[in-house]
Amino acid sequence: MTNEELFQEAQKARLHAYTPYSHFQVGAALLTKEGKVYHGCNIENAAYGPTNCAERTAFFKAVYEGEREFDRIAIAGAPEGQEPEEMCAPCGVCRQVMMEFCQPDSFRIILSDGKGSVADFALGELLPYGFGPANLGK
Ligand code: THU
Repeated sequence: MTNEELFQEAQKARLHAYTPYSHFQVGAALLTKEGKVYHGCNIENAAYGPTNCAERTAFFKAVYEGEREFDRIAIAGAPEGQEPEEMCAPCGVCRQVMMEFCQPDSFRIILSDGKGSVADFALGELLPYGFGPANLGK
């Protein structure tokens, strides 16, 4: 699967977002090393703090299903009723969740402006000197 195709999966996931407060919809498509895609969307909450980002929804679905080996994630974000026109980078909490399950030098984060420009970062570029299981000897 190409990065563009994975971004299209993130676009599809975006349509499932529950965003009555920010009206900013995010979708994520997480590709396992075996080639399976897990989708996620942001799910907001009236108390704001419990809001779950699209990336974490995708990871938590996959981990629940027993997945532990991940290759890439694509993220698409835009206000409700609009198509993505800017890259939507993962928040710090989601980067930390990725750090739990992914290698910082090989796991890739795919962003796109929806207009043909696709960026491909290593997790370690977006979370330098990240704290992970290895710091605890795991
Ligand atoms: N959001 C995500 O789902 N992923 C990101 O990477 C950035 C932010 C969501 C959280 C909230 O529902 C909305 O976007 C506005 O912050």
